[in-house]
Amino acid sequence: MTESVSLTVRDVHLSFGANTVLRGADLDVARGGTACVIGPSGSGKSTLLRTINRLIEPDSGDVLLDGRSVLRDDPDALRQRVGMVFQQFNLFPHMTVLRNITLALRKLKKLSEEEAVQVARTQLDLVGLAAKADSRPAHLSGGQQQRVAIARALALQPQVMLFDEATSALDPELVKGVLGVMADLSAGGMTMVVVTHEMGFARSVADTVAFMDQGMVLEAGERPRSSRPPNIPGCAASSPRCSDPAVRSCRRSGGRSARAWRPAPGRTPAPGSPTPGWP
Ligand SMILES: Nc1ncnc2c1ncn2[C@@H]1O[C@H](COP(=O)(O)OP(=O)(O)O)[C@@H](O)[C@H]1O
Ligand SMILES: [Mg+2]
Repeated sequence: MTESVSLTVRDVHLSFGANTVLRGADLDVARGGTACVIGPSGSGKSTLLRTINRLIEPDSGDVLLDGRSVLRDDPDALRQRVGMVFQQFNLFPHMTVLRNITLALRKLKKLSEEEAVQVARTQLDLVGLAAKADSRPAHLSGGQQQRVAIARALALQPQVMLFDEATSALDPELVKGVLGVMADLSAGGMTMVVVTHEMGFARSVADTVAFMDQGMVLEAGERPRSSRPPNIPGCAASSPRCSDPAVRSCRRSGGRSARAWRPAPGRTPAPGSPTPGWP
C-alpha cells in the first residue's frame, strides 16, 4: 500500500442553486485513521465525500491532504490518490472482472497489459475473489461485485479511500464480507472516510464518528462521545420521531458504555482475506 496521508476538510460550503447543501463542513482524519460519517438522509454526506475527491467543486473552504490543499491539483490525478466506492458498484457489465480492474490501470496509470493484469489479480486476491477474474459482474453476488469495485479502486494505490454507503444496496447476508474487506483496509493503515448506517462497523473500526446534519458536521469525536446523535434544538435527527435508519440505529446504540466501544482485543485481521464472521 502507498503511504497514507491525513485528510482535512475545512469550512466547506456548497450550494446547488438555491439549495445550500454544505454549510461550513469540517472533518479531520489522521493519517491512517478511519472516520465514519453518520446522519440523516439529505444531510449532505454524499456531497461532502464528493467534494473531497472533487467530483463536485466546493464554493468555498478547503480540502487538504497532509496539510496541502488539493483544490488546485489536476482532478484526475487527485482521484487516483483518493479512491471512492459507491452504493451502486458501477462495474462495466460487458467486461470481465479482471478487465474492469485493468482498464483504469492501462488508461490512467499507463501500465502494460501484463503489469495491469498482475496488479489486478493481486487486488482480487486481497478481496478474496481471485477465482472470479474471468467472470462477468452479472454472475457475481452484489457483495462480490462491491468487493470488485473496492479492488478496482485499490488497484490505483490511493492514499485515501471514501466509501459512500457501500453496503446499503446489499442483501443482509452479503454485508459482512464487504465490511470485512473495509475493516482489513482500515487495520492496514488506509486513511478512510466511511459514510455508513452500520453502527457495529462504526463502533469497532472507526477512530472518529462524525454526525452530520443540515450540511454541517455537528459533532465529531472518538467513538464513545458520538455514540448517539447530539441533542441539538431544531435538529431533525434529535427528534425521537426521526425515522432515518442511521439515526435510529445510532440512537439504539446510545446507551453503551465507553468500555463497550473499544475494539475487541486482538482484532487484527489476517492480511489478505476478508475477516471471517464480521462484524
Ligand atoms: N447534483 C446535485 N444537484 C442538485 N442537488 C443535489 C445534488 N446532489 C445532492 N443534492 C442535494 O443535496 C442535498 C444533500 O444530498 P446528499 O449529499 O446526497 O445527502 P445524503 O448523502 O446525506 O443523503 C439534498 O437536498 C440533495 O437533493
Ligand atoms: Mg448519500
